[in-house]
Amino acid sequence: MKIAITTDCHIQMLRHPEAELSRFMDLVLAEKADVFCVLGDLGDGLAGYDPNYQILLGKHPTTFFVLGNHDLYRQRGMKLPPHESFAFNLKHFAVGTPLENSWNDIETIHTIADDCVFVGSIGWPDFEHPLICDSKLHYDSSVDSWNAATIDPQYIDLTRGWLQSTLPLQEAFASRLTKAFAQPCSNVVVLTHYPILPGQCVLDPDDLTMWPYFFNWTMGQEVLRLARIHPAKRVWCFAGHSHDYCLGKVTQEAPNVFAYGHNTGYGRLRYAVFDTQAPSESNPTTINELDKH
Ligand SMILES: [Fe+2]
Repeated sequence: MKIAITTDCHIQMLRHPEAELSRFMDLVLAEKADVFCVLGDLGDGLAGYDPNYQILLGKHPTTFFVLGNHDLYRQRGMKLPPHESFAFNLKHFAVGTPLENSWNDIETIHTIADDCVFVGSIGWPDFEHPLICDSKLHYDSSVDSWNAATIDPQYIDLTRGWLQSTLPLQEAFASRLTKAFAQPCSNVVVLTHYPILPGQCVLDPDDLTMWPYFFNWTMGQEVLRLARIHPAKRVWCFAGHSHDYCLGKVTQEAPNVFAYGHNTGYGRLRYAVFDTQAPSESNPTTINELDKH
């Protein structure tokens, strides 16, 4: 199966969003992938409904997506806790198929041609990355400096703490993962906005301040645990969010688990194509970017 992915399009930051997205989707469609996946940060929730989301999500007949942190944004006086913002903002995406329909969604998975099962989540920082835990930067939800390190708290109500938001999300995702691995499919495809496996994100050991905002460790460990129980399945994990910190190549995280973080940046439209029939070292089979000149 051919799977095309993109992420972090941040469409309101494009200079000519309608024209650029149309040309970008022409490139994606020419790849004749079976599935097109969008891994979050489609835009800024601040913009509300934007017709250009329909270009990104409505061209390929089988389009799956997950939301990113920017998709949860709301105006300062209207900001909501993550689970409420998720519910409110999801309705701005009127086409395409979300792989996560609520913060406590225990149902949604999608199988394609009995070959691949797709499961996804925004992911949300859980502060469990061992390098975080081993560092002096012990997470404390009451410490305002954690919130000061990212602009998210300006647009999402995080006063109750990041981790309190994360726990129910992880629990629901674990239920969907279990359901996905139980399907009679030879491939499990895991889409997250935040990285969940080490190879998806390069972290700078000399600059720990931003690390908590870059990772959900627990979700990745659950994928690895289930992959060990199902050694005959191949597991593909795709993530975005970290832009230039994403490695942009496939890493093998276990005998049957392959991870990829899509390296991209603001104002860029970039996609990668994967072939689940091809060896992992041949993937992605294509990486391409819209040339704006
Ligand atoms: Fe993001």
